[in-house]
Amino acid sequence: MLLRTMAAASIPPPSSTTQTTQRPSPSLSQLPIRTIPGSYGLPLLGPLSDRLDYFWFQGPEKFFKTRVEKYKSTVFRTNIPPTFPFFSSVNPNIVAVLDVKSFSHLFDMELVDKKDVLIGDFRPSLEFYGGVRVGVYLDTTDPKHGKTKSFSMELLKRSSKVWLKELLTNLDTLWEKVESDISKNDASSYIIPLQRCIFNFLSASLTGVNTSVSSDIAENGWKMFNRWLAIQIIPTAKIGIFQPFEEIFLHSWAYPFFLVAGDYKKLYNFINDNAGEVLRLGEDEFGLTRDETIHNLLFILGFNAYGGFSVFLPSLIGRIAGDESGLQERLRSEVRKVCGSGSGSGLNFKTVNEMELVKSVVYETLRLSPPVPLQFARARKDFKITSHDAVFEVKKGELLCGYQPMVMRDANVFDDPEEFKPDRYIGQTGSKLLNYLFWSNGPQTGTPSTANKQCAAKDMVTLTACLIIADLFLRYDSVTGDSGSIKAVVKAK
Ligand code: HEM
Repeated sequence: MLLRTMAAASIPPPSSTTQTTQRPSPSLSQLPIRTIPGSYGLPLLGPLSDRLDYFWFQGPEKFFKTRVEKYKSTVFRTNIPPTFPFFSSVNPNIVAVLDVKSFSHLFDMELVDKKDVLIGDFRPSLEFYGGVRVGVYLDTTDPKHGKTKSFSMELLKRSSKVWLKELLTNLDTLWEKVESDISKNDASSYIIPLQRCIFNFLSASLTGVNTSVSSDIAENGWKMFNRWLAIQIIPTAKIGIFQPFEEIFLHSWAYPFFLVAGDYKKLYNFINDNAGEVLRLGEDEFGLTRDETIHNLLFILGFNAYGGFSVFLPSLIGRIAGDESGLQERLRSEVRKVCGSGSGSGLNFKTVNEMELVKSVVYETLRLSPPVPLQFARARKDFKITSHDAVFEVKKGELLCGYQPMVMRDANVFDDPEEFKPDRYIGQTGSKLLNYLFWSNGPQTGTPSTANKQCAAKDMVTLTACLIIADLFLRYDSVTGDSGSIKAVVKAK
């Protein structure tokens, strides 16, 4: 443990802002210079063979792992889906960066460009965003990035006044539904009520509009976002249905916007008709047009926030509900020690911040199940990239790709990296590891700003997750289930 911690300490913490001081330190310059191993194979055949490995024969995890072993390097060349050989010119060639040190180059905005690389070289048609290139697809050098990022951070700041109340109100509805399902069917498949809860709470908090103003949106808004998201990312995602049908029908072309145009129009109208205050904010304070404000707001609400929480929360709830190691008793005791007993009592942003174990469990879940597993960035210029054991030359224009689930299990940094250790981030030594927790496209110790591409809600996401756990253990003594269903809850005595 001590050795591992020392190793971590010798890796300079990455910066999420424009800063180049971390590299190369004198000891790093001792590392050998190596040509990046791996190849892209023959035109068409190489990308196709890698695509079949990625989606079918190996799956993403094994895909990266076997290549690390083959090339004896955490930096190598390969292809990543999607490849649409006959339908468009997406370039699948990437340089994989799969350890903490090489991955952190993705945050150095002097070295990399983030234009249009959210999910790789493939960017869904701008029609999905009303023809507007929304902030997440903009590089930091684009003045519009500063405007949209500042707008998103202001939304979060303003929403913090109602965030807690909206979250707790919607959690009441969620858990009532779970309890009622359990009483009728002995189990509750909670994903649908959870998605409703996330959608309603985020809409009220971020846009200032309660979904109840439109019965259609209140009932179906979350489904509309699900369809809008799915149609965009299908070509990049392993679904796990019967092959070769998945390859032929889901991964061979980009799906057109018109399939979800009706949904998107309804969501657009919902914001346009009701979110006057935040729309004026975008126009008056941040110099966006009304149309740009609406499309950016829809992206933040639907893709960043609703999409992010929909992936993250089931893994968090499942991790806790499925635990049999005594973690629940420890969490319950910490939560009640800080807040006192009884639902809602004493729970707020300040008290939740005092819950060291709760916070550490949230961080550890984000480490082992990062909700956004792939991160991309394009080399802005020729530069040298450093892994733990070598230095490689990258050329301007090359696309770097990190697979976070593997990077976050870097044995040079994390002790017993495959193991879920609830206490990992507690104490002085533990908190140093936050320098290497990268789920938000930057270190957990970093500060999101207009100069970087770190998630604007880095702190709000972890605090919200902590609030959800704390609320759970104020309601219940224990909960049994997994990432898809709850089988039993024992109410707090
Ligand atoms: C669990 C929930 C969330 C996760 C997992 C998540 C994750 C991420 C990640 C990985 C990125 C970087 C993408 C990239 O460029 O590679 C990002 C960017 C961003 N996120 Fe989040 N996010 C979440 C919630 C939110 C929320 C609630 C907001 C609301 C304001 C938000 C706003 C943003 C914005 C505006 C960006 C773009 C940053 C930029 O362009 O500089 N995110 N998020």
